[in-house]
Amino acid sequence: MAETSLELVTRGKIDVEGRLVDASNVTLFCKIELDGVTGDVVYKPVSGERPLWDFPDGTLAGREVATAMVAEASGLGAIPPTVLRDGPFGPGMVQLWIETTEEELVDVRSPESLPDDWRVVLHAHDRDGEPAVLAHADRQGMRELAVLDIVVNNTDRKGGHLLAGVDGRIYGVDHGICLHTDPKLRTVLWGWIGERLTEAEVGKLRGLRERLDGEFGEALSEHLTGFEIRALAERTDALLTEGVFPAPGDDWRAIPWPLF
Ligand SMILES: Nc1ncnc2c1ncn2[C@@H]1O[C@H](COP(=O)(O)OP(=O)(O)O)[C@@H](O)[C@H]1O
Ligand SMILES: [Mg+2]
Repeated sequence: MAETSLELVTRGKIDVEGRLVDASNVTLFCKIELDGVTGDVVYKPVSGERPLWDFPDGTLAGREVATAMVAEASGLGAIPPTVLRDGPFGPGMVQLWIETTEEELVDVRSPESLPDDWRVVLHAHDRDGEPAVLAHADRQGMRELAVLDIVVNNTDRKGGHLLAGVDGRIYGVDHGICLHTDPKLRTVLWGWIGERLTEAEVGKLRGLRERLDGEFGEALSEHLTGFEIRALAERTDALLTEGVFPAPGDDWRAIPWPLF
């Protein structure tokens, strides 16, 4: 019996339904079934990964799983249950599909139409020369994903990689290009620059840092190089020392394109 969704994604029988068209690598939408319990999953077979010159080690599927492991171990941000397993096109990443609401979390709008509690990331002008802002909602679930992104060095936090679940939680998806050793944080979630981390956030980071020196660090080495695990520990230390949300560096593009 599939008692948990983790069991369902780990042991269920996968039936491919179709390919997600806006996806750059092979990303399949599938039905999954275990002992009469059914659900939907995303399946990204390693065989469908396009090689990336700047991520020569490991697999994108492994990075997705490692990022979900960091979220789980730290309690920072929600990522749908994500596992590495065999599927119809060989080993790959399998992740529970999250039903979403219509709620907007990130948007480009005229400054006047922005809800009061939204965070502005940048000011621009639309095609007609009217002012427009890139902004995002200020929800604890998003803020925690932003903290997670700093430590996992997420280089692709687009608007479409934040999901408003029907269960009221905010989920992060598509973590295939995380955990590089070099600074590459690229995100739409720059709305909290300079703000102090809460005690709860600091506590979660401390917990993660401790666990990296133990069995958890070893478990990550199934998916990441030793250098990458060390860099994760160093980014966690640096964030704990700073105690605030960092500003983007000058050496790389800090906003993803497209934004969504
Ligand atoms: N677990 C999920 N639950 C619900 N929607 C998802 C999930 N994973 C991905 N999606 C949706 O599918 C889109 C494409 O998936 P994504 O993981 O971004 O693929 P790719 O790596 O090819 O960009 C996402 O932008 C999101 O809208
Ligand atoms: Mg994507």
